[in-house]
Amino acid sequence: MQLSIIGSGHVGLITGVAFAYKGHKVLCVDNDINKIEKLKKCIAPIYEPLLQDYLERNAREGRIFFSTSIKEAVDFGTVIFITVGTPPTASGAADLSYIEAVAREIALYLKEYRVIVEKSTVPVETGEKIEKTLRRYVNTSVPFDVVSNPEFLREGSAIEDALNPDRIVIGVKTKRARQIMEELYRDFHCPKIFTNVKSAEIIKHASNSFLAMKISYINAVANICELVGADITEVAQGMGLDKRIGSEFLNAGIGYGGSCFPKDVEAFIKISESLGYDFKLLKAVSEVNLLQRDKFIRKIEEELWILKGKKIAVLGLSFKPKTDDIREAPSIYVINKLLEAGSIVKAYDPKAMENAKEIFKERVQFCNDLYEACKDSDLIAILTEWDEFKEMDLDKVKSLVKTPIIVDGRNIFNPEFVRNKGFIYRSFGRI
Ligand code: UGA
Repeated sequence: MQLSIIGSGHVGLITGVAFAYKGHKVLCVDNDINKIEKLKKCIAPIYEPLLQDYLERNAREGRIFFSTSIKEAVDFGTVIFITVGTPPTASGAADLSYIEAVAREIALYLKEYRVIVEKSTVPVETGEKIEKTLRRYVNTSVPFDVVSNPEFLREGSAIEDALNPDRIVIGVKTKRARQIMEELYRDFHCPKIFTNVKSAEIIKHASNSFLAMKISYINAVANICELVGADITEVAQGMGLDKRIGSEFLNAGIGYGGSCFPKDVEAFIKISESLGYDFKLLKAVSEVNLLQRDKFIRKIEEELWILKGKKIAVLGLSFKPKTDDIREAPSIYVINKLLEAGSIVKAYDPKAMENAKEIFKERVQFCNDLYEACKDSDLIAILTEWDEFKEMDLDKVKSLVKTPIIVDGRNIFNPEFVRNKGFIYRSFGRI
């Protein structure tokens, strides 16, 4: 089948690569000319495991193409995915202006039947609005269907997630669109759920918010553990073995970041509010998450007392491992707070340095490896659980630092082990 993807960011590009890998012909479109030029030369614009390799393979075998033209996208694909950004507005609601603009442009070029699929994360009722917009701007009586097909891939394992999802959710109104979506996903072997469009939209917001809730819940329990001297890893293990709870997303620490959870939780709160429901539970999820960041700073202060003039080695800038993405990463908040307090920040991340340099410029000393960052530091702050950090040579680190103190926002070490190496070690939910 031929399909088009409008918006070649994290979700769009990975979706395109995954469908091409399954044998479809895919045209990926973006209005960023530089990005499209790079992609035409088979250069992945983001770091994501397997992406470069799969991109090259698909291009070599003639299944993936790139363009800046929405007209070409409309001509090319029977199915047209909209995967443009839905960033938060100042109020926390999703900014749907990019989706609306794309819908208007699609309408201009629509000549024959197309299935238009919203894959960007959007508030409930967006599908309806896309449909109305298309109807308003389409000149002819050409038929089309609007489908909601939310994406559940995670950064860092995005290609694998896109190829082997737990489930595929398709919100659809007509038989014709359903048949086309069934054909599109024929080679994906997992439960496929067909719902109405609004249910599909809610499934996405509700799933991300639920996972965010799990994280805030375990962080709240971790705070209780600290107060009484219990161990959150033991508690999470004991809880997670209950099949109804499950062991995933029970890692306590500095809290969630990234381009999805913070934005989606706020957007779900906002859309609920506009529908007349006060989603108090989610408000607490967001609040608990942000408090963890301050808690991290407090732990540093408790160890160093005065932050001014102290050298802090920040290990980890990306919001999670295996990605170079720093959007809403706890590192940004923490580094800003340290700089405000007058600390000298030396930072290292295996993949996210270039993105972080754009934000902090020369205000942060970017180092070539973790040992350079730790040299002469008063404290080491761990913010991302990269394997490289879990495997660091603690004896070497101890010989390099000024004072051996680690504040660990991701609980990557066994406290006893690190303390036996001569470090003061602070983590979350563990004494
Ligand atoms: C998340 C969802 O997991 C995907 O299903 C969804 O498709 C995606 O958002 C999206 O909406 O596009 P992602 O943001 O890539 O994926 O990353 P996650 O692995 O979910 O992690 C999110 C944040 O939660 C990270 O900052 C991570 O460090 C944090 N986290 C995760 C914890 O603090 N504790 C945990 O136990 C798990």
